[in-house]
Amino acid sequence: MTDALPEKGVPGEQILAELRELRAGDLPTHGGRLFAYVYDPALDGLDDLARAAHATSAHVNGLDPTAFPSLLAMENALVAAAARLLGGGPATVGSVTSGGTESLILAVKAARDACPDVRSPRLVIPSSAHAAFAKAAHYLRVELDVVPVRDLRADPRAMAAAITPDTVLIAASAPSYAHGVVDPIPEIAAIAAEHGIRFHVDACFGGWILPYLRRLGADLPHFDLAVPGVTSISVDLHKYAYAPKGVSILLHASEELRRPQYFAHADWPGYTMINPVISSTRSGGPIAAAYATLRSIGDAGYLALAGKTRESVSVLAAAVEATDGVRLYAPAETSVVCLASDGVDLFVLADELAARGWHTQPQMAHAGHPPSIHLTVTAAVHATVESFAPGLAAAVAAARARGPVQLPPLPPLTAEAVTPQLIASLADGLGLGAGDFTQMATVNTILNAAPPALREALLTGFLSLLQRPTHGDVMT
Ligand SMILES: Cc1ncc(COP(=O)(O)O)c(C=O)c1O
Repeated sequence: MTDALPEKGVPGEQILAELRELRAGDLPTHGGRLFAYVYDPALDGLDDLARAAHATSAHVNGLDPTAFPSLLAMENALVAAAARLLGGGPATVGSVTSGGTESLILAVKAARDACPDVRSPRLVIPSSAHAAFAKAAHYLRVELDVVPVRDLRADPRAMAAAITPDTVLIAASAPSYAHGVVDPIPEIAAIAAEHGIRFHVDACFGGWILPYLRRLGADLPHFDLAVPGVTSISVDLHKYAYAPKGVSILLHASEELRRPQYFAHADWPGYTMINPVISSTRSGGPIAAAYATLRSIGDAGYLALAGKTRESVSVLAAAVEATDGVRLYAPAETSVVCLASDGVDLFVLADELAARGWHTQPQMAHAGHPPSIHLTVTAAVHATVESFAPGLAAAVAAARARGPVQLPPLPPLTAEAVTPQLIASLADGLGLGAGDFTQMATVNTILNAAPPALREALLTGFLSLLQRPTHGDVMT
């Protein structure tokens, strides 16, 4: 690794060459063979445009819109576009945040702070809701009431039964990340309205594609601000709006609902701090890049991209259904294909798919769900999708030939027993010490067998092991 602070500055060309070399070790962000983390529309010239737009505003600070009205103008335009797409009306307002997690934390904060008299605020979510709600609850000291799903979807009656006088917010997904299914939003919204409780729709993942899928004829429930009882909704522009990372939108049905989201502090000797979102200083780069992306693709462009995605989902789902050894675990109704195993070791299969250039996301068994493989499908997959079925068949055959993972003997473990030393020796023993993450079946099998608290401790320890300053073999 090179030195981030060399004694003397290094020429730009050399630095860019170093960056390219580092990036060569990453998964491919383009090419339609990575089914998680990245969203690729495969549109010529869009990357260059977004990069140039980012550069125009990278040093602009969102801290003070009176100093940098350009950012305020772009933010207001992005919020207006999201509101138009997601059933907003004349009263709708919103904020631009750095991502889905921030949008959800702020939705929970706004709901919590709107009820100052509730001493132990609670949040009702279905068990399929994104982990970011748990993070929001943890950061904000809000209790979580997690309601089991029925057929992968939120169960409105069970959610109603979980409401208490301390409930400040109910939330559901459109769609859920893990399985890609849309919760029955109108039913839950009606319950929330009846109780006078805020209802947030987490459309972070699918909010920019669901409206287009519906326009293309997909049979999906209404899920947006037009549904009576929905008080806020979040949509990530760095997902299906195909903007570079760092932009999400949180919409509220009215300014009054948004008000408690703000943080203000005048009681110190410096400038009065007024923040609508968590960060104070914020780069204008991602906002300008998102603005350029939306304007470049346009409504018709998004419709076409959704069409490509929809076709790709059908082809992928058909491939899963036609392959002996795997099955669809969830209906492929949006932009996710989720498959479970039917006789092959799923984690070996994920490695075999990766060995063939198909990078998927294994999901651990949880609360009655078996382990599964998640595929986030984006428009770029359209170009490669026909070669998935033979790849899947070959990967299944190879996984069968290898047989299931045989775990090495492991000491009985608890979350409390996890120490940095134990993590280091486990990582070495499992071959992760050298940074090769291509053979993950054994690791995933161990994690899958671990209860959630132990899995959290193991992975936290491992991330902490990875995140160490690089002191040795510095070159300039
Ligand atoms: C439904 C849903 N909500 C929230 C998030 C969190 O978004 P981010 O990773 O941008 O913080 C995600 C991310 O995948 C998601 O799928």
